[in-house]
Amino acid sequence: MSESRDPIPGSATARALPPDLQGKRVLITGGTGTTGKTLTLWLLSETDTEEILIYSRDEQKHHELQLDPEFDPARVRSVIGDVRDLDQLTHSLKDVSVVFHTAAMKHVHLAEQHPIEAHKTNVLGTRNVVEAALAQKVDRVIASSTDKAVDPANVYGNTKFMMELELLNADRERAGNTRFDVIRHGNMLGSKGSVVPLFIEQAKKGCLTITYPAMTRFWIGQKDLVDAFHRCLSQSGGGEIHIPRSPACRIDVLAHAISEEANQDVIGMRPGEKQHEVLTAISEGPRLRDFGSHLVVYPPSSTSPGGEPVADDFQLRSDLAPQLNISEMRSLLQSEGWLTE
Ligand SMILES: NC(=O)c1ccc[n+]([C@@H]2O[C@H](COP(=O)([O-])OP(=O)(O)OC[C@H]3O[C@@H](n4cnc5c(N)ncnc54)[C@H](OP(=O)(O)O)[C@@H]3O)[C@@H](O)[C@H]2O)c1
Repeated sequence: MSESRDPIPGSATARALPPDLQGKRVLITGGTGTTGKTLTLWLLSETDTEEILIYSRDEQKHHELQLDPEFDPARVRSVIGDVRDLDQLTHSLKDVSVVFHTAAMKHVHLAEQHPIEAHKTNVLGTRNVVEAALAQKVDRVIASSTDKAVDPANVYGNTKFMMELELLNADRERAGNTRFDVIRHGNMLGSKGSVVPLFIEQAKKGCLTITYPAMTRFWIGQKDLVDAFHRCLSQSGGGEIHIPRSPACRIDVLAHAISEEANQDVIGMRPGEKQHEVLTAISEGPRLRDFGSHLVVYPPSSTSPGGEPVADDFQLRSDLAPQLNISEMRSLLQSEGWLTE
């Protein structure tokens, strides 16, 4: 399977931007990545966003995006840049109203080996996004975070935890009118370099490498991810962490869903990996509200949060969340375009 699949599976109704953001310019850091491309296709197909600036480093990925007819060159513009480069970011954010900050070092094992590099991109890079957004009076910044940022057990999770703090502190300080929010979610089904494309490739050779069969992970598809960004843009007052609720499954269930026949070779957990993930910390409980389809961690200053309060010991855990069985996982993979019917 390639990454050029149906734009946003299952998107039945258009998700327009709030009136004050319509017809404006959006910049996506990491716009050539899986999340960035998903958000770009949403903006192109369902909103009247005037221009989408794709901000990332590797010129080859920009070149490939420009060759892809799905990315209308009249509305999508490449900007070669690094989030570590404050000058380039500040320059690029001129006349931009919304930033989706998705650029990151995200491979757990590489961040373990290069903690300072992960810190430079994920923490200092985010600090630059904040400073540039404030300097250019951007209206909204929404950043992608991960379950690994909760009770972090590895370098990647720690850097994303600090990324969240950078954004939430910036919102609390209210040095300008820019509002900063976070979307925290589990594994994006089939993202670049993730286990789904790996298993699909390995299945062709008849053996899948399983780290730990009983390991569980949350799984989110493109539609639910776009819904989360749209909801956050439309509803947040700033300083919020939006957490879409998604199902989970064991890693051996995912492997069976991808191939019934292939052998499973258990290779053991890698440094920094957890057996189960959590999407909310117990310490967030007093500020956490449940909306059914999603949860929101509100800032301490919030006086009228919506939703329902959660129990004192509540945690959204991948081993306790609704578990997908093999056929449900297969259906999800099919609906996202990763498996054929
Ligand atoms: N994938 C998941 O399962 C998952 C789950 C939860 C949260 N997230 C979060 O979602 C975000 C996107 O993940 P993804 O899976 O879409 O990642 P991805 O496909 O690997 O894309 C990452 C993007 O970031 C860019 N990038 C990396 N370092 C950069 C830098 N220093 N300056 C500018 N651009 C940079 C990359 O392009 P260049 O390398 O060319 O610069 C690429 O465009 C990340 O913040 C990640 O932490 C992902």
